[in-house]
Order: sequence, then structure tokens, then C-alpha cells
Amino acid sequence: MDITFCCADTNADEWLPGLRAALPEATITLWQAGAPPARYAIVWQPPRQFFAEQLQLRALFNMGAGVDALMGPHLSPNTLVVRLNDAGMADQMAEYVCHALIRHFREFAAYDQDMAQRQWTYREPLPREQFPVGVMGLGALGERVARAVGVFGFPVRGWSRSAKQITGVECFSASEGFAPFLRGTRVLVNMLPLTAETESILNRSTLSQLQRGAVLINVARGRHLVEEDLQPLLDGGQLAAAVLDVFRQEPLPADHPFWSDSRITITPHTAARTLFQETVAQISGKLRALERGEAIAGVVDMQRGY
Ligand code: NAP
Ligand code: GLV
Repeated sequence: MDITFCCADTNADEWLPGLRAALPEATITLWQAGAPPARYAIVWQPPRQFFAEQLQLRALFNMGAGVDALMGPHLSPNTLVVRLNDAGMADQMAEYVCHALIRHFREFAAYDQDMAQRQWTYREPLPREQFPVGVMGLGALGERVARAVGVFGFPVRGWSRSAKQITGVECFSASEGFAPFLRGTRVLVNMLPLTAETESILNRSTLSQLQRGAVLINVARGRHLVEEDLQPLLDGGQLAAAVLDVFRQEPLPADHPFWSDSRITITPHTAARTLFQETVAQISGKLRALERGEAIAGVVDMQRGY
């Protein structure tokens, strides 16, 4: 089994020994331009030259959950694209979203300001029924997030392409379910994959349908949000705050207006990181299953784009 490894922003000196230890039967090499065609690849945002040269891949394993950076006509139709399923990311997403939600609900930003002024000021408790949380995308990560939010007693709703039943979550689906989902949501969490259907789905029109004083938590992809629509919605009070982990351009440019807006919290695409042990175990398990001719989870449907 020959495997080529081509991962941007990834420490190959750590990952290659780990993968080789997990797959001693395989030959795993670091991809470089002109390398011979391999049977399998493990990738994260590979360059176009990689696709131009690696034309005989049986499967391409993505080192993340989102495969948007891989999609396009450069992919051979005979290559399976396989994404990470959870691999430790769902718990991280649940932590991130619960922190952002509770930080807003319990008004921690206001207490931070009070502390800077040495001020001891009580605020009245807010009823959590007034903060229904809506999770867009109920897949490997979104379902975990919806369940975690429910533990704190917030009303939880979710929206997905296909109809779902999740205990404790009011589920909506497809385009006809989108408007009622938005209407009853105050804290909107985006956990959708980036596809032709979901690009720019967070915009003036959709965010205006949320309950007034809404909070946006975008932990999926920057291209889901029409960035120039955000600050006017905050100025007008339709949105109270936004917590953004992902941006159209990453790293976020130093002169981007979001940096200096105290209503916007910015983190550097870190909501759920690719974890070493979980990922090595998942990819090596799937590679072996494929070699045995077994079906594996996480094969991307190229028509749907996720
Ligand atoms: P997943 O398991 O494929 O789940 C995707 C969910 O979105 C599914 O519930 C799917 O509906 C729904 N969906 C897709 N297209 C839709 C549409 N047009 N309308 C309504 N619902 C739609 O994906 P995942 O593993 O949970 O990951 C989700 C995304 O999180 C990734 O694609 C990636 O962009 C992002 N992510 C971000 C970070 C970070 O650090 N910020 C880390 C990891 C992942 P069905 O269930 O009906 O198919
Ligand atoms: C990270 O953004 C991922 O898609 O895994």
C-alpha cells in the first residue's frame, strides 16, 4: 500500500512517524512535485500540481471534516474522497459553542468591563427560554453541539437537508423548513458544510429573520457569511453579537473592520482542531477496511458536495 502525504500547515515530522507506526505494512512518503503516482493520499489543502500529477489515486483522505478545498473538476471521478468523521472534533465544537453561548447569556463581556472599572454591579438573570439556539447542520458535529446546548436547558432546534429526529431537539429540514427554523431562533450556530447550496447562506435577508437581538456563531466556513452584511445588522440591533471562527480570507487581514468591533469575537479557525491520535487511528482503520474491500464511513457524495 503506497500512500503520499501532502498536508499544508501540518508538521510532517510528527504525522509521518505516527502514520508509519499505525500502518507498518504501508510505504508512506511526503509528497513533492514529480513524485510517482500513489494508490492513496492523505491531504489537507493540497496544491493544484498535486492533483495534476496524482491521477491514479484510489482514495484521498482529508485531514479535516470539511472537504470544500478539495472539490472541483481537477478531481478524478475514480478517486474516493473521504473526510474525517468527528475524530475528536465534535467535543471541541460543543465546548466552543457552549462557551460562546453562555458567555453571551451570562453577560460576561459586561462583567469584564465592570472589572476593568473595579465596579461591583449585579445584572438580573435572563430567562433561558428567551434564548432558543438553532443549529444549522445536524451532522457529526452539529448533532453533538445541539445535544450539548440542550444539557444547559436552552430550547434547541436544528436544521438539516434530510428530516431528523433527535431527542430534545426541534428538527426542521430542507428549504421549506428554513424560514420557520430561523424565525424561532435567537442564537444561530452554523455547522453546515460549504457547498454551492450553502455559500453566503448567512446574509442580511436570512439573519433578519432571526429573533431580534440575535447572536451569530459561525464555526463552519467563512464563505457562508456575507461579511459586509454583518456590521449593519449589529448597528441596527437585529444582531447583538457575533462569534466568528472562520473568515473569507484567513488569516483575517490586519486592516479588516471586524478586528476593532467589540461586538464581534474572533478566533483563528480553531474551534475544532484535527487531533493527532484520533485522526491517525481513524484514517489507518479506514485504509485497512478499504483494502479488505469493506465499506467505510465518511465517503463524500460528489453531487451533494459533502
Ligand atoms: P456532516 O457530518 O457532513 O454534516 C453536515 C450537516 O449539514 C448534515 O446534517 C447535512 O444534512 C447538513 N446540510 C448540508 N447541506 C445542507 C443544506 N443545503 N441544507 C440544510 N442542511 C444541509 O459535517 P460535519 O462533520 O458535521 O462538519 C460540518 C462542517 O464543519 C464541515 O464541513 C466544516 O466546514 C466545518 N468545520 C469547521 C471546523 C473549525 O474548526 N471551524 C472544524 C471542523 C469542521 P443531512 O444530515 O441531511 O445530510
Ligand atoms: C476544519 O476546518 C475542518 O474542516 O476539519
